[in-house]
Amino acid sequence: MAHKLALIGFGTVGQGLAEILLEKADPLREEEGFEAKIVAISDMMKGSLYHPDGLDIRKVLEVTRETGSLEGYPDTPGLIRGWDSFETIEKSNADTIVEITFTDIKTGQPAIDHCRAAFENGKNVVTSNKGPVALAYPELSELARKNGVKWGIEGSVMSGTPALRIPRVSLAGNEIKEIRGILNGTTNYILTKMEEGLTYDEALKKAQELGYAEADPTSDVEGYDALYKVVILANVIMKASLTRDQVERKGITGLTPDDIEQARQEGKRWKLLAEIKKGQDGVRASVSPVKIPLDDPLAGVTDATNAVTYVCDLAGPVTLVGAGAGRTETGFSLLIDLINIERGHL
Ligand code: HSE
Repeated sequence: MAHKLALIGFGTVGQGLAEILLEKADPLREEEGFEAKIVAISDMMKGSLYHPDGLDIRKVLEVTRETGSLEGYPDTPGLIRGWDSFETIEKSNADTIVEITFTDIKTGQPAIDHCRAAFENGKNVVTSNKGPVALAYPELSELARKNGVKWGIEGSVMSGTPALRIPRVSLAGNEIKEIRGILNGTTNYILTKMEEGLTYDEALKKAQELGYAEADPTSDVEGYDALYKVVILANVIMKASLTRDQVERKGITGLTPDDIEQARQEGKRWKLLAEIKKGQDGVRASVSPVKIPLDDPLAGVTDATNAVTYVCDLAGPVTLVGAGAGRTETGFSLLIDLINIERGHL
C-alpha cells in the first residue's frame, strides 16, 4: 500500500522531494518495494490542497513552477483547499507528515508545534529542519515513542549525506569519543574562494547566488548554523544533553586575507571547525576557525562540501564527506527516512 504523505511547507526541499517521488516512482517500487503518494500540501504562501486519494504530483509541480502558487491546481471531486498546517496534520489521512516549513531557528517554531501535533495525532514525522532536533530532541523523541510513531531527522545535519544514520546504524557498538567536522557549506565555500584570491564580500555574494547561504547569512558566517548541527550531533550520537549556550562559537568574519596567506605559508588552511569531545567532565563542544595542516583529511574538503569524522573506540576514525545542502540532496534525506520507516528500521 502506498505510504501517504502530507507536506507542511512546499519550498525548494518539498519540491525536491516531490520531483524525486515522481521521477523515481518505478525504481523505488520495483527495487525497494516503496510507494508513496502525496495526499496533502499546506504552505503559508502557496496555499493548500488535500485529497484523500492523493494529488497528481506532476500537476502540482507544474502549477507551482508556472505560478508560484497551488491555487491553479485543477478542481477534482473530493479536493479540499485552504486547510492550514494544523488542520492538515490533524484531519488528513496521511501516515507521515513531512515537516519542511521555514522555521525560526531561535525558537524552533512552527516546526516544534507541528511535530507535537503530528505525534499526538498518531502520525510519523520526517524533517530536515534543524530547529526541532537541536532545541527539542528529548521531548519530541519521547513523544513519538509514547505515541508509537517514528521521527526521521536525517536531513537535519548534512542533508542527504548520512551523517546521523552512519554512526547510529553502521557504527553502533562503538563509543564515539570525538566528532570533528566542517558542517557549514557557505563558510567553507567562502574560505576556499578567499584562498583563490577573492575578497570576503565577493565570496559571500557568490555563495548567496549559488543558494548555499541561509536567508540571513549571519547564521552561516558567525557559526550559528554549524552550532545547531553540533548540538544535534552531540545529543543524538553521543546522547549528551548539550544546549546551544554551552557551545563555544566564533565565526569567520574576523579572518583577513593576511591570515589566509599566513596559513598558506605555514602549510595550513583555515576551516570553520566543529569539535565535540567526550571527557571526564561531560561533553565539550565548539565551532571556530582553526588552522589545520594540509594532511588532515578535513583540509582537502573544499567549496561547499561538508565532512565529519567520528572517532570510534572500535572502528577508529571514520570520515564522511558529502553535500551539506541542496534541493535534491535534502529531498533525498527525507526519502531515506521514509524508506526506513517502511522497512521498519527507524
Ligand atoms: N546554509 C547552510 C550551509 C545550509 O551553508 O551549509 C544547510 O544548513
